[in-house]
Amino acid sequence: MFKKLFGLDNKPKTLPDDFVNPIKVDLHSHYLPGIDDGCKEIEESVNILKILQEKGYRKAITTPHVMGDFYKNTPEIILGKLEEVRAAMKKEGLTIELEAAAEYYIDEWFDEKLLNKNLLTFGDNYVLIETGFIQPPPNLITSIFNLKMAGYKPVLAHPERYQYFEPGSDIYEQLMNSGVLLQMNLLSIIGYYSPQVKKIAEHLVNHKKINFIGGDTHNMKHLFMVQEQACRSPFYAEVVKLPLLNNEL
Ligand SMILES: [Fe+2]
Repeated sequence: MFKKLFGLDNKPKTLPDDFVNPIKVDLHSHYLPGIDDGCKEIEESVNILKILQEKGYRKAITTPHVMGDFYKNTPEIILGKLEEVRAAMKKEGLTIELEAAAEYYIDEWFDEKLLNKNLLTFGDNYVLIETGFIQPPPNLITSIFNLKMAGYKPVLAHPERYQYFEPGSDIYEQLMNSGVLLQMNLLSIIGYYSPQVKKIAEHLVNHKKINFIGGDTHNMKHLFMVQEQACRSPFYAEVVKLPLLNNEL
């Protein structure tokens, strides 16, 4: 009765305190400062990495945006920033590994980068790609084909967020059958983007169509929501039952 009176029954359910996150590699984030819409200052980058280390992560693979006409990040810019952050981490005595790849927006400039084989990869030659949310780019299918022909393994970021994928369609299956791996955002499972995105994320998890999970963390607020809400939500226990590839990175 007291619980009801004080609204304690409505307290969001979380995983038990002794739940240990089995995922030790944080993938898909925007931690390199000042080169995209992620961390603005190097202090924020280092503070985030410190928290990840304290949470038990062994490695973080950060993936700055690369967009032909907006975030014109080259491998040189990204790797230069990576070294700056690594030096700052060293000063703070951090031992968590930091690697950098990129999140490539499929646009008309992407094909040129692919042609020059000038792409940053992670793990087993994986390339993280994204598209606009409303409409697919005209070169999506050919870019995926060309990526595979060049020996890369495409990983589609947050497939649950694209509005042009009809709910209930077999597009996810088609993508997986054509060799595309799928990376779900953890904020999707707590409804951060929309109820519809949450529903699709749950469907993909329940049908074992997710290969990687990621935070898509841009700042401290995202980190808090990913670590304290998404990774503490009961559904996260279902997510980590999947044969995820994060820990192989
Ligand atoms: Fe991202």
